[in-house]
Amino acid sequence: MKKINLIGLLILASSLLFIQCTSDPIPGPQGEAGVDGTDGTNGVDGVDGTASCVACHSKSHRDPINETYALSGHATGTSYQRGTSASCAQCHGEEGYLDYITKGEVNADGYTSVSPMSCTTCHDKHSTFDFDNDGHDFALRSFDPVWLVLDPTYALDFDGTSNNCATCHQPRNSYAIPAGTADYEVTSSRFGPHHGPQATLLEGIMGANIVGSEGYPGAGPDGDNTHRKGASCVSCHMGETTDGTDGLHSWTPTEDACASCHGTSIPTEVTGFAADFQTLHDLLVAEGAITATGSTVSGTYPVKVAQAVWNYKTLEEDKSNGVHNPKYSKALLKNSIEALQN
Ligand code: HEC
Ligand code: HEC
Ligand code: HEC
Ligand code: HEC
Ligand code: HEC
Ligand code: HEC
Repeated sequence: MKKINLIGLLILASSLLFIQCTSDPIPGPQGEAGVDGTDGTNGVDGVDGTASCVACHSKSHRDPINETYALSGHATGTSYQRGTSASCAQCHGEEGYLDYITKGEVNADGYTSVSPMSCTTCHDKHSTFDFDNDGHDFALRSFDPVWLVLDPTYALDFDGTSNNCATCHQPRNSYAIPAGTADYEVTSSRFGPHHGPQATLLEGIMGANIVGSEGYPGAGPDGDNTHRKGASCVSCHMGETTDGTDGLHSWTPTEDACASCHGTSIPTEVTGFAADFQTLHDLLVAEGAITATGSTVSGTYPVKVAQAVWNYKTLEEDKSNGVHNPKYSKALLKNSIEALQN
């Protein structure tokens, strides 16, 4: 679709002015004809002008977004209720999240009532209408780099709208990652990187990097991690919907998002992930460090055992069967198993 060019609009506008002028009782002398202007450039589909506003701000465009949103864990989940507590409010419930995004901290006393996540949790208003030069902001409240709560010196930057996801899908700061050589005390049955370590796994950080025969791929933009650099939370989870139940705002990954790299045979797990994960599970149960159902057992452990528990919980809570960072997941798994077997 080509847009009416600028000159066309100007001619239309000036002819309207002319109608006004002819009603003047004393017409002035005819002015000299102006020099023709240069032709305007044609707009790109859906980029310039109000047509682009309508492309997003129309019912037909919103319906599939609203419908997929209704299916999502963000819409149906109940954990937002945890947002009454100050230690949970940053990621659970709209009130705490908005304070965190706008003021950098949540209400120290928590919140007496909390609202579930909604469109306005993530979206607000545009910070620019010059999408051509400034890029699209999708009227998101924030997609600035994220200072991690478990390591406030680390600014995680996916360089785009996926930073929105990282504000919540990162480990909270309740437990330190076991390191060093001294024994490590596990103090709770909830030990591990609560609950969504997806952003840090994708980045290739915040596992316990036990030294072993499987090499680590490196972190962030310098790492050997194609999914971190060539894909993103948004590209895998928010693509065009296939049948109205995936992609868009359902946040269920679409196969189309994988096809550009994997063609038609798309792997669903890192090779050997399920078997290795089971092996790690069995070794940790034998150590007495986790129960058969995977809850951690409080106690003091050699650091390598606590590290292996941390890695087990990281890969369990990540819920992607290693997809978020295949090489990093594989190294965490293999080296944890090796450490426990030696
Ligand atoms: C890529 C999609 C997209 C485009 C293009 C876009 N918007 Fe938006 N806009 C949004 C989203 C998402 C919101 C968040 C609020 C919502 O969903 O209604 C929003 C919110 C707004 C709001 C504030 C909320 C409201 O409903 O009053 C205004 C005003 C607005 N847009 C105007 C515009 C105008 C004017 C243009 C064209 C210059 C435009 N938008 C182009 C996606 C878009
Ligand atoms: C305000 C915090 C917040 C933001 C921002 C956020 N999430 Fe979530 N997300 C959650 C919480 C909390 C849940 C769990 C909801 C529940 O079960 O109660 C969740 C659930 C999910 C689920 C479903 C998980 C399941 O087990 O069913 C997916 C997938 C997901 N988020 C992906 C994303 C992506 C991708 C983004 C970025 C576009 C994002 N989230 C942004 C907090 C957030
Ligand atoms: C840094 C952000 C963050 C903080 C702080 C946080 N959570 Fe979560 N929580 C999440 C995310 C993200 C999910 C969804 C993860 C997923 O589905 O993979 C989640 C999921 C949950 C779930 C549902 C999933 C499940 O496995 O049961 C519960 C319950 C929960 N959190 C409780 C809490 C409580 C209680 C606190 C405070 C003590 C808390 N969270 C603090 C980010 C956070
Ligand atoms: C958890 C955060 C989150 C919530 C909640 C959310 N969005 Fe979005 N939305 C995003 C992100 C991130 C993008 C940018 C996607 C991209 O970069 O392609 C986006 C993009 C959009 C767009 C423009 C892209 C498109 O497909 O046209 C519209 C319109 C939109 N959202 C509307 C909504 C509406 C309506 C709701 C509520 C039903 C909603 N959003 C809820 C995170 C969210
Ligand atoms: C390379 C594509 C890809 C990227 C990049 C990606 N994901 Fe995923 N994600 C997946 C796949 C595939 C699954 C597994 C889905 C399944 O088994 O249902 C998954 C699972 C998840 C789950 C658990 C969903 C569930 O229903 O249990 C959450 C939450 C999630 N991803 C959030 C994120 C966030 C946040 C980011 C960015 C930090 C991200 N993902 C980046 C592909 C991706
Ligand atoms: C930008 C290209 C690209 C995209 C998009 C992409 N992948 Fe990958 N994927 C790769 C590459 C390259 C590898 C090899 C490991 C690496 O480089 O990190 C890989 C590895 C994997 C592995 C590990 C395979 C093994 O044998 O261990 C799985 C599983 C996987 N991808 C699933 C997915 C899924 C599911 C999606 C879509 C939701 C997806 N990938 C999207 C390029 C991509």
